[in-house]
Amino acid sequence: AWTPGNIIEDAIAAVRRQVGDGKVLLGLSGGVDSSVVAALLHKAIGDQLTCVFVDNGLLRHQEGDQVMQVFARNLGVKVIRVDAEARFLDALRGVADPEAKRKIIGGLFIDVFDEQAARIEGVDFLAQGTIYPDVIESAGSKTGKAHVIKSHHNVGGLPEHMKLKLVEPLRELFKDEVRAIGLELGLPAEMVQRHPFPGPGLGVRILGEVTKAAADTLRLADHIFIEELRRAGWYERTSQAFAVYLPVKSVGVTGDGRRYEPVVALRAVETVDFMTARWAHLPYELLDLCSRRIINEVPGLSRVVYDVSGKPPATIEWE
Ligand code: XMP
Repeated sequence: AWTPGNIIEDAIAAVRRQVGDGKVLLGLSGGVDSSVVAALLHKAIGDQLTCVFVDNGLLRHQEGDQVMQVFARNLGVKVIRVDAEARFLDALRGVADPEAKRKIIGGLFIDVFDEQAARIEGVDFLAQGTIYPDVIESAGSKTGKAHVIKSHHNVGGLPEHMKLKLVEPLRELFKDEVRAIGLELGLPAEMVQRHPFPGPGLGVRILGEVTKAAADTLRLADHIFIEELRRAGWYERTSQAFAVYLPVKSVGVTGDGRRYEPVVALRAVETVDFMTARWAHLPYELLDLCSRRIINEVPGLSRVVYDVSGKPPATIEWE
């Protein structure tokens, strides 16, 4: 029978066969797939694994610290944390087009990762958190079957000149199996059950030009929204939920007088395959609580709105 325990045992045996005493490099993103690969490879080959975690300044609230806490401190995985916020923000200055932002973020990620990889002696393998649906999707796009609307760098980000062999222990697994083995490997449920987060991160949730101030503001608003969803039991009932920073100013009024500040939109969807989605019918009381908390606790926001658009016609992300 296929139990998480069996899957792990088979995967560990296969990794050990493939890797021998070679060195493996993994780009750890904090997402479910790369996290499970890290835990699995650590169990299979211990110190032969080195992870590189690139903080691009476009991650969720305290995401970098959580990754270091879980992997470096709790599990004892070798993780190199790269603080690349300034480089990403510099590269994004003045850029407003969504696809241009994606290209810059994806390209710079590869550069930064590549630089780190070059510093490690004798790496033989590159591990990736490719799962079965990624395999199908990229096979489809090569033959023109899948309709690729947005570029992303989850699959095939291997720098050409590195000549590393790929280790992809999740290649035959579906998402629910990946989550199950993640739990079995001792990763926190919160990490394993997390909603997906796009590679370009807040870079495509800050509409138009990305600034540090907008990223800091959005991170806080998003964190409050997610915290309240969890508290109300709605996090598990939604497939993806997040805040979006709208660079339009709206008038507000507080005790001290009139303000003229940007708006935040909340988005929560229910979906099975992310190809179509229904906007989540969150209770008004919950939306009310999120709105009050965000406006009271996050400086520089005047207004909160809720996105009631399905996919199609709207995409899940705003960019
Ligand atoms: P859309 O906005 O196209 O999103 O309805 C569908 C799913 O894809 C995610 N998404 C991305 N993931 N890089 C990623 O890794 C991207 O550039 C990207 N764009 C969208 C989105 O979060 C949703 O889960």
